[in-house]
Amino acid sequence: MAGAVDSDQLPQGAAPDWTVPQDWARYTPQEHATWDKLFARQSALLPGRAAPEYLAGLDMLHLSRPGIPDFAELSDKLGKATGWQVVAVPGLVPDDVFFDHLANRRFVAGRFIRRPDQLDYLEEPDVFHDVFGHVPLLAHPVFADYMQAYGQGGQRALRHGAIDKLARLYWYTVEFGLMRSGEGLAIYGAGIVSSRGESLFALDDPSPNRIGFDLERVMRTRYRIDDFQQTYFVIDSFDQLLRTTLDTDFAPLYRRLETLPDLAITDLLPGDRVLTRGTQAYAHAKTDANRAA
Ligand SMILES: [Fe+2]
Repeated sequence: MAGAVDSDQLPQGAAPDWTVPQDWARYTPQEHATWDKLFARQSALLPGRAAPEYLAGLDMLHLSRPGIPDFAELSDKLGKATGWQVVAVPGLVPDDVFFDHLANRRFVAGRFIRRPDQLDYLEEPDVFHDVFGHVPLLAHPVFADYMQAYGQGGQRALRHGAIDKLARLYWYTVEFGLMRSGEGLAIYGAGIVSSRGESLFALDDPSPNRIGFDLERVMRTRYRIDDFQQTYFVIDSFDQLLRTTLDTDFAPLYRRLETLPDLAITDLLPGDRVLTRGTQAYAHAKTDANRAA
């Protein structure tokens, strides 16, 4: 994941592209047990909730040994499916490094795993979030192409000074996206499928808004990183997502966005295709509780 780190902060022991060896042999039995526990819990919860494309890709994570996947074996298997690889990084990486990896079909993943007392919430993405959340869809040909297109778009956005706008597309699709599925909705964003609480909340709770995906709308919308989302955007299909990303000329769009105000997380606009007008009861209850504390 990319973040507020500078290129000159390359950690000791990391290669110039910020990758490090995964050191699979160094994981303890307890760390493997944490993976297995999270894996069992989420795989039981997700059928009927996650997009069929994601569920089909989960098989990718069944390797020759249980526990935390060995990135070398995982990359071998994933490479045969879509040409993607998974590489380990020590933590957040600079934007340009992140985009270069994606543009070359390399997904950067954290190698550490959360402590047993952090099963439900973790601020920094660990190997469970990165691998369980992201890798299954990298096995899907269309989504795999979308991730590469995003990386290439990121390289262009850097030149336009528009990273904060483009990052919202990643946030509201790759991390917290919903899609239409049959009669209802399904989750596919990595931040949702790797979280027990948000797997339930994103689909079932009346609190959040659920709005049809619109690229410009998404790139104007702020987001929150500290709790469940207050607005989700719903795509029709991965084909729609890929086509929109490939067919849009982003340079004039970035210029227009500079003239438009950002939107608050819960704003609803007249042109929105609103699937759920959220009550925001969950977020309001949290705010009230914090005020009382
Ligand atoms: Fe992520």
